[in-house]
Amino acid sequence: MTTMDKLIAHSKQYGFVYQGSEIYNGQANTWDYGPLGVELKRNILNMWWNHFVKENKLNVGLDSTIMLNNQVWKASGHIGGFSDPLTDCKECNTRYRADKLVEEFDNDLNPDGWSNSKLLDFIMDNKIVCPSCGALNYTEIRHFNLMFQTNMGVIENEHSKVYLRPETAQGIFINFKNIARTTRKKIPFGVGQIGKSFRNEITPGNFIFRTREFEQMELEFFCKPGTEMEWFDFYEKEIKRFLDKIGINEDNYRIKEHKGEELSHYSNKTIDYEYKYPFGYGELWGLASRTDFDLNAHQEASKQDMTYMDPQTNEKYLPYVIEPAVSVDRLMLALLVDAFVEEELEDGTTRDILKFNPLVAPVQIAIMPLVKKLGSNCDSLYADLASKYRVEYDEAGSIGKRYRRQDVIGTPYCLTFDYDSLDDASVTVRDRDTMSQERIKLEDLEKYFALKMGF
Ligand code: GAP
Repeated sequence: MTTMDKLIAHSKQYGFVYQGSEIYNGQANTWDYGPLGVELKRNILNMWWNHFVKENKLNVGLDSTIMLNNQVWKASGHIGGFSDPLTDCKECNTRYRADKLVEEFDNDLNPDGWSNSKLLDFIMDNKIVCPSCGALNYTEIRHFNLMFQTNMGVIENEHSKVYLRPETAQGIFINFKNIARTTRKKIPFGVGQIGKSFRNEITPGNFIFRTREFEQMELEFFCKPGTEMEWFDFYEKEIKRFLDKIGINEDNYRIKEHKGEELSHYSNKTIDYEYKYPFGYGELWGLASRTDFDLNAHQEASKQDMTYMDPQTNEKYLPYVIEPAVSVDRLMLALLVDAFVEEELEDGTTRDILKFNPLVAPVQIAIMPLVKKLGSNCDSLYADLASKYRVEYDEAGSIGKRYRRQDVIGTPYCLTFDYDSLDDASVTVRDRDTMSQERIKLEDLEKYFALKMGF
């Protein structure tokens, strides 16, 4: 497996991800998605939207605001409880998340929900020394709220204080009644949302794995109480189907169920899909059965009736919720790790390849004239293919070098127009993974790529 350093260097060199604010010496733990990164990211976002919203007849979408009424966060428990357990090393003053110290000590443990004393006792009993200075001398654990605050309007005071949302989910819950009424959807139905979320993480890091600004893709699926486990199973399979679709190898992730005190107070079942990143297993995707906790909390706080009247049985109830939640940033990191291969060739040289599934690859087809002066013959070919695929034109350097350039950015097919093409109206198509080449008639190209890329 590749290392994080290699992946970060590769991402930067080829325009996937740059250090944020780089010309000012960077802004710690911020990353900008470059021209290839933004394509990859958009492809994941679109595929998620198509899979979980557009192609599912029960589901619809939403785009709610980032700064919601503060009462939303009070009701949801984020103002009181959305915090991480912090401890400082008394010798060197480095600050740590106590639960992360435990997780790093034993990757198989999940300390979510452990009490402060249990965390500190575990750290001391197992002699988990400060990773910075090696001392075993920590402060008591205290909690730090992760929500970013800002002010809305021209006057800064307690009343103008607002928070940047730490999850997209609450925007969906507070719109439940609006959506049910305006779409005339009957339970069960789901609402999907994509958007930025913000958390003042104490220990951001590992590249785009944990950042303070990230883009979530969340679905809140509303169902009748008592049917939630059926839908939980359904979405467990849907997540697997989606990961297969975008090309994540199932051997590289595992499913972990939250047990006992790991389970949030509002959940009756939660699992995490944990991906095998170069730094160890880490959460990729969460699937939670959230009961009626959120609708109930908003009903109580807002004094608005959030119940649903079942037209078939005339029963009135608060729907239960199944929530698959993931960030595009973590999916992108998993895709990069999964796709990166350093391959030894028969001639003793090596080549770096990103073996992206053609559906997510930022560039799907590279069009190359054998020599520059054949370039104008590629114009109509480019126009035809670019209307359906993500296409790049490359005429600089030897064909071998151009192939390598496409391998490192993950382009599955290269297409060469040569002198013979003028006579036989055919081009050579080269496959990224097998490096095999075949001659295809121009008139058959559309059918050829449709078959290859699964359309
Ligand atoms: N509404 C539920 C919720 O937000 P979560 O487990 O806190 O649950 C859901 O977050 C997903 O969002 C995670 O599985 C992960 O993919 C992503 N995520 C959470 N914090 C993140 C961060 N700091 N950076 C990148 N992605 C993050």
